[in-house]
Amino acid sequence: MSQRVMSSDYMAWSKLHSGSKYNLAASGVRWYALKDLPVTLADLEINGPSTYGFAPLQEAIANRFGVTTDMVVAAAGTSMANHLAMAVAFEPGEEVLIEHPTYELLVSTAQYLGAQVTRFSRPAEDGFRLDPNTIARAITPATRLIVLANLHNPSSAFVDNATLAQVGELARGVGARVLVDEVYLEAMFDHRPPSAIHLGKEFIVTSSLTKAYGLNGLRCGWALAEPQLAQKMWRLHDLFGVIPAHPAERLSVIAFQHLEQVAASARTLLQSNLALLHRFLDSHPELPASKPEFGTIAFPKLLRGNVDTLCALLREKYETTVVPGKFFEMPQHFRIAVGGETTVVQEGLERLGRALADLKLFHTDW
Ligand SMILES: Cc1ncc(COP(=O)(O)O)c(C=O)c1O
Repeated sequence: MSQRVMSSDYMAWSKLHSGSKYNLAASGVRWYALKDLPVTLADLEINGPSTYGFAPLQEAIANRFGVTTDMVVAAAGTSMANHLAMAVAFEPGEEVLIEHPTYELLVSTAQYLGAQVTRFSRPAEDGFRLDPNTIARAITPATRLIVLANLHNPSSAFVDNATLAQVGELARGVGARVLVDEVYLEAMFDHRPPSAIHLGKEFIVTSSLTKAYGLNGLRCGWALAEPQLAQKMWRLHDLFGVIPAHPAERLSVIAFQHLEQVAASARTLLQSNLALLHRFLDSHPELPASKPEFGTIAFPKLLRGNVDTLCALLREKYETTVVPGKFFEMPQHFRIAVGGETTVVQEGLERLGRALADLKLFHTDW
């Protein structure tokens, strides 16, 4: 029997080595400050009536997605929501189908929970499009769960609900479920389609306020699922932490009440920063990439040269970081994130351009 996965190399790198003056590695929108929310000390009372959820927060999440509160499981970020969702969707040793490339934690969490993980490809040459035919070829009667992220991490590719419905049909055919991690879907703001939770009982959806709104520290996440499965997640959650930090629950309710205001700030920022990113990619044909219309990240390929060399040069000489593609099992790519302050993103992209120019000097065949 293979050894159980007990850690994530990507998360350790992200916590210890991804920081820099010009950070193009962090995928979330710049931090939203507490002072910009109308909060009083009384709002942050330490203790309160939280058991299987804090009712006002359960209602805020349910209202936002047009579901009943018995379908909502509050969790510490999308991360814990993914963990709970996977844990109730399959037994150790069962087959789980996960997109490739993907957010590393989706794979390591499934492996930690004992899944037999197989992969289906979202090819770079096809803009990382999700093609249900690829899933149809990979799915077996033993498949218990299909896992994908929408928007896609690392590319921000979008999957529409008609395509997701086809995936749902495939899952239904073998009695499997579909987990859609929608954390970056929030970054579509006014263009956000209805959540995949409405596509059928086989869907489980996870998300949070962390990425699109700059509210990472609140750890306000959730899983949405049919009530019986939601109940199973709540009962499992008792084994992890009993109840969340109550002031964070109360602050999350306030964040939902003012989400339009928080979103407006993020939307304006991302519009400017995505335009900068598009201009950068247009002027660098040596970095083929699909240009994301929404989201915070892109995943170009470095046509010539070594990505680790580029990343080291970028960090050491230019105080700038991106995420090496090896963390997405595609070592010739790297991920650029543009959720930071516009001045930082602009300077980071310029520095990336200079590092690429340096790298070219090593390659006479460029
Ligand atoms: C696809 C995906 N899901 C979940 C997470 C973690 O989200 P959270 O901060 O809400 O736990 C990330 C973080 O990068 C992510 O990319």
